[in-house]
Amino acid sequence: MGIRIKGVGSYVPERVLTNADFEKMVDTSDEWIVTRTGIRERHIGSPEQACSDIAAEAAKAALANTGLAATDLDMIIVSTISPDMVIPNTAALVQKKIGAGMCPAFDIEAACTGLIYSMNIAYGMMSVPTFNYRRVMIIGAEKISTLVDYTDRSTCVLFGDGASAVILENDGDPETPDFMVASKLGADGKYGSLLCVPAGGSAMPASAETVANRLHHIQMQGGKTFQLAVLSMARTCQLVLREADVSLDQVRWAIPHQANERIIDAVATRLKAEDKVFRNVARFGNTSSASIGIALDELNRTGQLERGDYILATAFGAGLTWGAALIRW
Ligand code: UT7
Repeated sequence: MGIRIKGVGSYVPERVLTNADFEKMVDTSDEWIVTRTGIRERHIGSPEQACSDIAAEAAKAALANTGLAATDLDMIIVSTISPDMVIPNTAALVQKKIGAGMCPAFDIEAACTGLIYSMNIAYGMMSVPTFNYRRVMIIGAEKISTLVDYTDRSTCVLFGDGASAVILENDGDPETPDFMVASKLGADGKYGSLLCVPAGGSAMPASAETVANRLHHIQMQGGKTFQLAVLSMARTCQLVLREADVSLDQVRWAIPHQANERIIDAVATRLKAEDKVFRNVARFGNTSSASIGIALDELNRTGQLERGDYILATAFGAGLTWGAALIRW
């Protein structure tokens, strides 16, 4: 069919919060943060920047990478847990900001697994010939700093803002192999309370009380989340490789969601993939649905990808959700 990755782009806001900055805000230390998470700094958006602004910068970078115009896009999907507002959706705001045409635009929410979910959705929709979606942009974008409780040392040091965009193109050539080789997604709602923002939705609408009790911020049981993250990512990668009948030796890069260096290490050990696991969590922290695409863009910009390379991407996040995709670059 010929659905391939045409190009990729990413953006992180200018302002950097270092571990030293956190030492002044909460009872923590650079030593604790580095040894427990591997994170050294993260980028934080300005007060004027909403999620759609961060997303639009990544979208423009991806367009520049491909040489396409915004009006060439047939659909825009944004994955985010930090949308500008409840309605309209962030993808529609991005459509306007980048000057795309009146293509379909919608958001999905699968937390940190969002970009892998979006890839599956886009690939499925592009695979229906009568739908005629030739060029689709998927974006993982977060202004997650707006959800972070900067008085909670156990979560505030972890997250950073950023966005990434991937443009998929169906070139109509049956000789072109599809980018999606195999993928598996999963979710287990019984773990929903491990990682959540309790208020602000229909279950607990905003009130003076929810604000006073800091219920509009991320709450997380880190230890259990850590454990399930390692198990779900390692297992799903193994399933995907088996499904595709591709061995890890054939994979050029494994890109696990960049949440915590120790989670990445544990997944790498389980997969026996230490030599091909990509890491940039030290510089960006956990950018949720943006992280896989930021990694892809970095690999591409630094000349570490060649057409045809196999990339094994995997993520987990609130829900809990998880997924893996074996991608052909
Ligand atoms: O995209 C999905 C997002 N979720 C994740 O990635 C979370 C996965 N979990 C983690 O990354 C880790 O569980 C954390 C980094 C959140 C925590 O690391 P941990 O090794 O599981 O530490 P812990 O929660 O067991 O806490 C150990 C100690 C506690 O003190 P006590 O009770 O032993 O006295 C914490 O209060 O470390 C304390 N602590 C801190 N100390 C200094 C927690 N956060 C901090 C901090 N600085 N920032």
